[in-house]
Amino acid sequence: MKKSVCLIGFMGSGKTTIGVKLSYRLKTPVDDTDKLIERKEKMSISDIFAIKGEPYFRNAETELLKQLAEDSHQHILSMGGGTPLKPENRLLMKQCGLVVYLRAKPETVYQRIKGDTKRPLLQCENPRQRIEQLMQEREEAYRDCADLIIDVDDLSINEIMDTICNALDA
Ligand code: S3P
Repeated sequence: MKKSVCLIGFMGSGKTTIGVKLSYRLKTPVDDTDKLIERKEKMSISDIFAIKGEPYFRNAETELLKQLAEDSHQHILSMGGGTPLKPENRLLMKQCGLVVYLRAKPETVYQRIKGDTKRPLLQCENPRQRIEQLMQEREEAYRDCADLIIDVDDLSINEIMDTICNALDA
């Protein structure tokens, strides 16, 4: 059985984009945990946060991961930026396959997501500061479960994919 690939990292680090491209390259289906949750709940992530609350969303992430960890088919899985925060989720991701941390600098993330209205955690007065603070809080959890860390700031999409494919072949 081939390993699935779990893409983790902060919002705006490129998980969704890399996931889709890698899916073409490896001819493997791609799933995005945020999209799967939106489909199941029939609501956008912003609405889930606003109406049902963040704890409900975090619980939905864990329940989804349990299902994904049981699926023996190879998948590319793009995870929401907060998924690795729960230790239980980190174990489930490890069961899914190779965990790849796409690490971006705060400035890179800020430039990519400024003006975005779909990320409830960054709808605040000073998103730049919030990005730095959340990144610092999360770095240890991301590193804890990563089999591979890629500093993506100065890499092309192809270079990032090459690194992941090399690790899969190793
Ligand atoms: C979140 C990241 C989002 C989404 C939700 C919470 C986070 O996913 O799951 O808004 O806690 O970092 P992306 O990383 O795909 O933006």
